Amino acid sequence: MILIVGGAGYIGSHTNKMLNQNGYETVVFDNLSTGHRDFVKWGEFFEGDLANIDDLRNCFKKYKIDAVMHFSALISVGESVIRPDIYYQNNVVNTINLLNVMNEFDVKHFIFSSTAAIFGYPDTCPIVEDHPYQPINPYGKSKLMIEQILEDYDRAFDLKYICLRYFNASGADPDGEIGEKHDPENHLVPLTIFAAQGKRESIKIFGTEYPTKDGTCVRDYIHVNDLADAHIKGIQYLQNTNTSNCFNLGNGEGYSVQEIVDIVKKVSQINFKVDHADIREGDPPTLISSSDKAKEILGWKPNFNDIDTIVQTAWNWHNSN
Ligand SMILES: NC(=O)c1ccc[n+]([C@@H]2O[C@H](COP(=O)([O-])OP(=O)(O)OC[C@H]3O[C@@H](n4cnc5c(N)ncnc54)[C@H](O)[C@@H]3O)[C@@H](O)[C@H]2O)c1
Repeated sequence: MILIVGGAGYIGSHTNKMLNQNGYETVVFDNLSTGHRDFVKWGEFFEGDLANIDDLRNCFKKYKIDAVMHFSALISVGESVIRPDIYYQNNVVNTINLLNVMNEFDVKHFIFSSTAAIFGYPDTCPIVEDHPYQPINPYGKSKLMIEQILEDYDRAFDLKYICLRYFNASGADPDGEIGEKHDPENHLVPLTIFAAQGKRESIKIFGTEYPTKDGTCVRDYIHVNDLADAHIKGIQYLQNTNTSNCFNLGNGEGYSVQEIVDIVKKVSQINFKVDHADIREGDPPTLISSSDKAKEILGWKPNFNDIDTIVQTAWNWHNSN
């Protein structure tokens, strides 16, 4: 059975669905702090908090866990600058609780949701796995700390892990059963959709003079189901090779904020107000992933490589929810 920690959230719930569709048994462990009970439509659900070791032990006692996928975290870069305390507590200390309980129960396979934020301002794009790690905020640092802790747990305890560094997760379940629902929402695609739906007055573009194709920031948008698929490939890799590894996950193509706004207008066929604001500190001009390593070693490739389709799945879900 696979334990999905944070499986009531956006990416974890999509991965849970895909695992079940592929014949895996799952149990979701989540405290529902930012997740949604009604996103756990597949497998078992165990309500618990990573901060509480007894919750973890009870879950590992109740289910025969073979591997763990760890999605749970606080995820807002801006908030992490103001509240590093809660970010290091939940993303680092609570993850160590999880790793230690895995160790107690002799569970040796782990997949970790890491992030492009470990690279900070990249020196080169597309960003390859061994690009220098230089996170510039507590969120990115908390993820890098776990990557480093995992290296030590592998050495000392033979824990085998995969770090998946997601670029901009986006889109929704094409069947429309689950989607992206953060509160507050900080991600560009849903925020722009809110503007199209009239739930926001406008969408704000931060910075128009970046050294990019149209002056706005460029990001690599990867569909949430492609991330889910990488987790399945990751589990197979761990089972087949019993070795640890790290992979960057993106489409390998960059779209500017302005382009995303235009695509939402096209997909929704709704015009809405766009405001321009100063650049935000800590926003690199361009973040694009190289996913060659994941393709070569995991045999993974994104199925949603068309940005219009990615946005369309998000639009469909937001419109029916
Ligand atoms: N969304 C993105 O674009 C993106 C990009 C890169 C990396 N990531 C990483 O992917 C992971 C999932 O992101 P998401 O967008 O699905 O976030 P999310 O907030 O939707 O999901 C996180 C889940 O973890 C749960 N959780 C948080 N703290 C917990 C605790 N102490 N105990 C038990 N459950 C807890 C929440 O209730 C929620 O269900 C995170 O680790 C995030 O850092 C996300």
